[in-house]
Amino acid sequence: MHASLRILMVAGARPNFLKIAPLLKACGVVGGVEAVLVHTGQHYDDEMSGRFFRELSIPSPEINLGVGSGSHASQTAEIMKSFEPVLERIAPDAVLVVGDVNSTIACGLVAVKAGVELIHVEAGLRSFDRTMPEEINRVLTDAISDLLFCTEESAVSNLRQEGIASEKIHLAGNVMIDSLVGAAEGIAASDIVRRLDLDGKDYVVLTLHRPANVDSREVFAGLLDVLETIQRRAIVVFPAHPRTRRRLEEWNLAQRVAGMPNMLICEPLGYFDFVRLMKSARLVMTDSGGIQEETTYMGIPCLTLRENTERPVTVELGTNRVVGRDPARILSAWEEIMAGDFRHGTVPPLWDGHAAERIVRIIRDHR
Ligand code: UD1
Repeated sequence: MHASLRILMVAGARPNFLKIAPLLKACGVVGGVEAVLVHTGQHYDDEMSGRFFRELSIPSPEINLGVGSGSHASQTAEIMKSFEPVLERIAPDAVLVVGDVNSTIACGLVAVKAGVELIHVEAGLRSFDRTMPEEINRVLTDAISDLLFCTEESAVSNLRQEGIASEKIHLAGNVMIDSLVGAAEGIAASDIVRRLDLDGKDYVVLTLHRPANVDSREVFAGLLDVLETIQRRAIVVFPAHPRTRRRLEEWNLAQRVAGMPNMLICEPLGYFDFVRLMKSARLVMTDSGGIQEETTYMGIPCLTLRENTERPVTVELGTNRVVGRDPARILSAWEEIMAGDFRHGTVPPLWDGHAAERIVRIIRDHR
């Protein structure tokens, strides 16, 4: 039996925590791999970070770089500068990054330049829209990774088309779904539906935070026009991301939202509460990536308020419909779903709650 492999695992932003949690657990189950967790501090509010650590039983990170917010360049640069000495000190056998946030590319770049093997979990997803910061992070991280784990077939073929050697690529399933399966008890115990007085009521869950939707007043106001119509027919529960909240104030749209009687805007929710809320919703409207996957797994209709998705399996097999920002298109899709006209979908292959164990085994055995 060879000595344990030491893997430095990086998490920085809310969706990262959901992906890292099952990987850390799997290290304990599989054996032969020791994980050291680094939090970059890209997200730092308790409601965007600490609460997720507690709910998902993620141990406090050994290292917190505490970089915080900033422009893309300064945030990425700060993460790189503070990660480099940590990497030197820990001297791991590999660095593992997840997803597509600035922390992902920043730490990935530092690792490969130091000659340390790089592992990317959730590799190969492509929206083919290079105006999205996440798309740039995905393409670049994949180009420099040594081991790439994919959630769906489309990601495998994207990587092959980009010339990445087949032996580096593994279709392993979806670690987000591992978290969802593992959290079943906490989700069932959430009393959010009662707390928000939604028992037995028709409601929609809405999330919006993509720069393309909330960083332009015109686009954001256009979406609010549609939501104004929708909230006349069903309650819209809108846990607002800090970026979104700030834009509402900046663009003078907060009052408009406050004037919509059935729009229930609230702070970002914890994981258990949020998933519980989705479970009893008529549908979910979102521009998030992870939520497209979670709704597909749970068989809840999802309208994606973007022009594209990097997760096509959620459309091909799941419950997702990509409807963009055109009011007429959003409204007609909404009408159809409310009338019961939607596909219940199936769960994509390998989204079975065991992706992290498969990944850790491959990491342990691949040398
Ligand atoms: C980041 C990811 C995005 C992911 C999202 C999930 C990148 C490029 N984007 O976007 O892919 O879907 O996280 O939330 O990495 N803020 C707080 N408190 C926090 C964190 C952020 O108030 O704990 C505010 C700050 O004003 C900050 C803004 O939110 O400037 C944006 O945060 P940032 O980390 O830059 O990107 P997100 O929009 O969260």
